[in-house]
Parts: sequence; C-alpha cells; structure tokens
Amino acid sequence: MWLFCSISLSLFLLVEVVLSATPWSVSPFNPSAVPLAVRSPYLSAWLNQASAGTALNGDWAKFWTGTIVGWAGYVRVDGHPVTQITATQSIFTLTAGGVDITVTFLSPIEPTDLVKQSLPFSYVSVVAAPNDGNSHTVQVYTDISAEWITGNNSLIANWTTDTSNNAIIHQTQLAQQQPYTEISDHIQFDIFVDGSAFHATLSASGTTTSWQTGEDVALRTQFVNNGVLQYTQDTSFRGVSDKWPVFSLAHDLGLVNSASDPVVFAVGHVRDPAVEYLGANGQTQHRSLYFWTKYNSVSDALVDFLKDYPNALQRAKAFDDRLTTDASKISLDYIDVASQVARQAFAATEITVSRNADNSLNTSDVYMFVKEISSSGNVNTVDNIFAALPLYLYANPALGKAALAPLLEYQASGQYPNLWAVHDLGRPYPQALGHNDGQDTQMPIEESGNMLIMTLSYTLRTNDTSLVTRYFSLLDQWAKYLVTNTIAPANQLSTDTFQGTLANQTNLAAKGILGIRAMAEIARIAGDTARASSYNAIGFWHIISMETNCLGQISSQILYSQQNQIGISQSQILLGFHLIAGWEIWGAAMVTANSVRDQLITSVHKYMAGGLSSKPYGDWYDTTNGSAQSFAARPVVGSHFAFLALPNAILSNSTSTTGDGGGSGSIGSSQTSQPMSTAPTSKNEASTIARVSQQLVISLLFTVYVPE
Ligand SMILES: *[C@@H]1O[C@H](CO)[C@@H](O)[C@H](O)[C@H]1NC(C)=O
Ligand SMILES: *[C@@H]1O[C@H](CO)[C@@H](O)[C@H](O)[C@H]1NC(C)=O
Ligand SMILES: *[C@@H]1O[C@H](CO)[C@@H](O)[C@H](O)[C@H]1NC(C)=O
Ligand SMILES: *[C@@H]1O[C@H](CO)[C@@H](O)[C@H](O)[C@H]1NC(C)=O
Ligand SMILES: *[C@@H]1O[C@H](CO)[C@@H](O)[C@H](O)[C@H]1NC(C)=O
Ligand SMILES: *[C@@H]1O[C@H](CO)[C@@H](O)[C@H](O)[C@H]1NC(C)=O
Ligand SMILES: *[C@@H]1O[C@H](CO)[C@@H](O)[C@H](O)[C@H]1NC(C)=O
Repeated sequence: MWLFCSISLSLFLLVEVVLSATPWSVSPFNPSAVPLAVRSPYLSAWLNQASAGTALNGDWAKFWTGTIVGWAGYVRVDGHPVTQITATQSIFTLTAGGVDITVTFLSPIEPTDLVKQSLPFSYVSVVAAPNDGNSHTVQVYTDISAEWITGNNSLIANWTTDTSNNAIIHQTQLAQQQPYTEISDHIQFDIFVDGSAFHATLSASGTTTSWQTGEDVALRTQFVNNGVLQYTQDTSFRGVSDKWPVFSLAHDLGLVNSASDPVVFAVGHVRDPAVEYLGANGQTQHRSLYFWTKYNSVSDALVDFLKDYPNALQRAKAFDDRLTTDASKISLDYIDVASQVARQAFAATEITVSRNADNSLNTSDVYMFVKEISSSGNVNTVDNIFAALPLYLYANPALGKAALAPLLEYQASGQYPNLWAVHDLGRPYPQALGHNDGQDTQMPIEESGNMLIMTLSYTLRTNDTSLVTRYFSLLDQWAKYLVTNTIAPANQLSTDTFQGTLANQTNLAAKGILGIRAMAEIARIAGDTARASSYNAIGFWHIISMETNCLGQISSQILYSQQNQIGISQSQILLGFHLIAGWEIWGAAMVTANSVRDQLITSVHKYMAGGLSSKPYGDWYDTTNGSAQSFAARPVVGSHFAFLALPNAILSNSTSTTGDGGGSGSIGSSQTSQPMSTAPTSKNEASTIARVSQQLVISLLFTVYVPE
C-alpha cells in the first residue's frame, strides 16, 4: 500500500491524509491486477483490481495467490491517481497540489540478455516535479515486510542490512530453511549459497538516504513525524507477523524546484540453487540462475541493477515500442492484449545453468523452467509451454529451445518409461525430478504432438537443427505413437484438463496429425527423405479420414456469426482442422482466419477490461459473461503473442471479407452433434486467443511445406 500524504509545505510538518477510494483512471484500461514487481514464480507482487478499480493507495500488494506481500510507500502528496500500463511498466501519476509525483514499477523483460533476464529483481522509481512554479520539499519512503519470504507468517525471519558499496541493501530470510519447499506457493528458500528477499537503494549523492529495520508501525510513524529514518537495526528476530518487522528506506530530496532525478528502489527474491533437475544417469542437478555466471554475490548484482536503471528504462521503452509497432499491424485492441500479459508470462520462468564437476557454472547448458501456476505447481508442463511458445519465439527463439531442452534431455535419458511424451517434469516447482514411474498426468496425443510441433517451430524459426539431430530417435518414437493412435483417439485428456477425458476428440486428432506432419518435416531436415515421405503420406491419409468424418459439419460452421456462435474450443478445432485439411484453400482460410482473429481479439480484450476479476489474468473464464474461474497468473497467456510469432509476411492487415463481423464481439458457445466429438463446449471454457491462434500459428508453420 502506498500512502500519499498531503503535507504542509513547511519542512517536515506532515499532515497525513490517507486517500481511500480515490477515483482513478487507467490507460489503456483497468486490468484485473496491475503488475508491480512481477519477475519470477516467487517475485510476484500485484495490485489487485475490481470493477471500480483500486488505486495504489487503496490496497496492499498481493502475491498472485491473493495473500498480502507487505510493501508500503509514503510520498508527501495527495490528488487523483492516473495509471498507465505498458508491457514492462506500471506507471502511477499523482497530482498533488503543487507537485506531480510519478511512481514507476518496472519489471524488466530482457529476453536477449540472459544475465539480465535472470536477475530476480524489480524496480520502483519516484520522480517529483513541481507544477506551480514553486519549490517544494519532498521525501520518499518505502518498506517491505517479511511476507515476501514465506507462505506461513508464523515462521521466524532474520535479517541484515549492508551499507557498504554506496548502497543500502536489506536482506531477510527464514531462520530455518527448507530446501526446494513451497508453502502455499511461496518458496521457503533453499539457501546453499544465498537465498532471501531484498530491498535496496543506492546512497545517492545530493539526497539524504536513510534506513531502519523494525516494527512496521514504529518505522512508518518515525518517517511521517521526522522525514528521516534512524539507521538502526532491530536484532530481535521473530515471526513474520510478530510486531511485523519491516525493512525500510527513505530518500529526502530536499527542496525540489524542477523534475527530480528518479529515486530508485529495488525489490528482489533470490534463491540459489533455483531448480532441482533429474538429469541423465539418475543424477540430480542443483541448477543456478543464469546471472551467477556474471556475479559472485547478490550485492554486486543488485548494485549493478540499481545503477543500470536509466538504461533499463530505455530498453523497456524499446521493448514496449517494438511490441506496440508489431501488434498495431494486427489491430489496436491487439496492442493492449499483448502488452497486458508480457510480464505475467515471463514471470513464470527462470533461466538456469548447471554446474561442472569443478563446481563452476556451465554457461552452455541453459535450461528455462516454467511453473504452471494456479492450475498446478508442475514444472515445464508441455501444453503450457506450447501455449506460451509464441511469446518466447517472438522475444527470443533461444528461449524456446531452453524450455524444450530439459524435457527432451530427460526423456532421451530413457528414465521415462512411456512411449509418448511426458506431460511435465515433476511437481511441485522447483523440483523437476521427472516421472520415472510413468504416472504423470497423461495426455499422450496432446503432448507428443506438442513436442513435435514445438521442436519443428523452433527449428524453422532459427535454422538451428541441433534439437532435431540430437533427439531424432525420441521424436521419431513419439511420431510412431501418433501414427497408431491418432485417427480414433482413445479416452484421453487434452489441454483442457478440466473437461475430463473423452474419446475421439477432434482437437486431439488434429494435434496428432499436425505432429505427424511435423515429424515428416523434421525427417526432411535431418536428411531422412524416406522417412519424410512415409510420415507425409500417413499424415495425408489421416486427413482424408478426418475429412470424411467431419469436414461437412466444420465447413458449415466456419462462418462466425451471432446466429451461429462458435465456442472457442470449436473454433480451435475448426481453424486448426480447416487449415490442415485445406492446403489448396489456404488463401481463403487466411481471409476467414483474419475475420475470426479480429473478433477473438476483441472478445479477449473485452474480457480483460471487463472488471469481473480481481487477480492476475486467468485463461479460464465464462465465455458468456467474462467471469473468471479459478486459474490465475498462468504463463499460457504468452499465447496472446501468436500473431506476433508469425512470419512477417503474414502480419499484414489484410481486409477481411468473410464472416459478418459478429457485432457484439461476445463469444458464445453452441453444441452441435458431430461424428467425432469435440471437447464439450460448456460455458466454462479455457479460452484465450490462444486456443485458436495457436492452431493458426502451427498451421502457418506448415506453409513452408508443400505436401507431395
Ligand atoms: C506455520 O508455522 C507454525 C510455526 O512453526 C506452525 O505451528 C503451523 O502449523 C504452520 N502452519 C502452516 C499452515 O504450515
Ligand atoms: C538467518 O538464518 C539463516 C538460515 O538459518 C542463517 O544462515 C543466517 O546466518 C541467519 N542470519 C542471521 C543474521 O542470523
Ligand atoms: C486494418 O484494416 C482495416 C480495413 O482496412 C482498417 O479499418 C483498420 O483500421 C486497420 N487496422 C490497423 C490497426 O491498421
Ligand atoms: C556443458 O553443457 C553442455 C550442454 O549440455 C555439454 O555438452 C557439456 O558437456 C557441458 N560441459 C561440461 C564441462 O560438463
Ligand atoms: C533459414 O533458412 C532459410 C533457407 O535457407 C532462409 O530463407 C531463412 O532466412 C533462414 N532463417 C533464419 C532465421 O536464419
Ligand atoms: C470412437 O470412434 C471409433 C471409430 O469411429 C468408434 O468405434 C467408437 O465407438 C468411438 N467412441 C466413442 C466413445 O464415440
Ligand atoms: C456468469 O454466468 C454464470 C452462468 O453462466 C453465472 O454463474 C455467473 O454468476 C455469472 N457471473 C456474472 C458476474 O454475471
């Protein structure tokens, strides 16, 4: 909670006015939750919203699960908050009498710099600017509580403050560490080298920087009354909620007569090692975040991070701009849809390296781990990565490889006993210990198809054939499974797990066929032309078989209209199927796809701006009215980048001529009888642009390929 206090302009005479229920306006729209510090599965602080909106001073910051992560800020202003949300920044602007205050929460997205991307830190900066031509005195205060380090506030925390290095760095951790253990999705730290929450600032020249640790009420009163903290450490280590110890920092900007330099704070959450992974030969790896390849201590990394703020802000703006430019080629709504989910999707990931025998870090062994989040705590769930892949490919295709590599390597080691692809690498995060008993959540066709399609996507995107050549026999094994199991899929789960198992799911059949076609292409790339022809022919006959079964129904539904509303799951099937079935009608399909595409984007935009949820975006909601179901904060929203992951030539804003425009933009659902059953289209559908656009992307990947 950030409290904006009015102050009489005589020095240090604060009159506190807590602005509850302050009206505010948000650009582009009020999201379900505003990202504040959102960078890893455990550095995840949001300002949850509701339809009326919640201003920065209206509520505590919350972990994605909804529990409070205490984070207080005091700035001596009052007024009407305005917020702007970009892909990387949440910017709050307050006009308070004679001073404008801008508070910027920047969670960097640095996809091409693995050191920077893996730093689990986030910025908050404050700029004060007089707007009345007069000088004003401004002081800024922030603290964090120990709620950042545990899911159980009865546990004992301890803490230290380091003031060397021209910085003030507060560090707090649990007094009893529990390696690789979560409580209510908060990690309990695994301290082999270092592992803690951090709150830090540089001792900037020209301003007075003060600090203190101690009880929340006492420190905040100290600041409100005196404008400065006491440079003292509370060494009575105690429970997180026992007289709430907080770790505070304050800057006195003195008399401000023009826009101040930003006062910059960092919050962070570091573990080392970060992830436990079952490698070849049954050997457990303790993997470290990539940034350790450059830094020997968290302090050094934090100080560099703080000093880098001006550059980080420029890079963030460049990322925001690139995204805006690219997304505008699709539609204006799409800019919002893609921008709103970037931090959420990246915050589920961690980039790691393993250690060599001499304990040095192996910088060429880069694995990215992804936490499923909210639907389960699984590590690298294949269908989640499949959904998020468009974002990774858009941001930096190497991240796609880094996410696939641990799955491929684990299964190539022979420890997973099933012939199909594994669903995930284990649970709960951050323990990727595999499923050597073969008893994972089983989605054989779904995940085998996904792995083949993703491996090919990455390869086509980069021309890097290393995955194809290294894992050829594993990929071939999965394709063989698909050949014998695709036409009449057995009673299996698809990615929409909540729908339960179902036999003969059309979307599974489509996924299987695409997987087989992907293997044909993989074989061609690997130089195995005989196998390429064989898989190609099989894929072709599977398509004919599906066509015979259900193309009639599908073509009658391809028009998206209010009279004939198509639920997302059906659309997914339709699009995916229509495209794979109709190589010759590719052009027509694209026109249709654009029409459907634009309506889907509008619908998702409407959901995101709908004000019915007060937690980070969920991808499962009631498609008739936009009310959210239990999912939240999942990385699958990376799928919203689907249209940005397409080859440039396909990004053009072609005029749609098919479809009637739909009017309301709402996505309804209908149930029609089909020879092959679809996943049941209930009102509760996992529906992002995702489900449709993924299929579109997949299909587009095949445009390079002319079937024999
Ligand atoms: C929280 O920690 C306290 C103190 O160790 C313990 O008694 C309690 O059972 C824990 N609660 C949960 C939910 O883990
Ligand atoms: C806090 O607890 C950790 C874990 O037991 C321990 O390593 C560290 O030395 C403690 N720090 C302080 C300041 O007591
Ligand atoms: C896309 O094209 C349509 C039709 O020409 C036009 O109305 C729309 O404004 C264009 N969208 C963008 C973002 O350029
Ligand atoms: C580092 O990792 C790469 C990629 O996994 C591997 O090929 C190489 O052998 C590893 N190096 C050492 C010294 O273990
Ligand atoms: C991959 O190779 C193809 C064919 O040589 C080429 O057209 C394409 O530009 C290459 N893509 C990349 C990302 O290097
Ligand atoms: C699935 O399809 C097969 C082949 O058409 C058919 O024999 C079987 O009855 C179907 N199963 C269900 C549950 O519809
Ligand atoms: C949305 O519709 C469902 C029924 O389909 C209903 O249970 C729910 O209460 C509705 N939510 C809102 C906010 O209207």
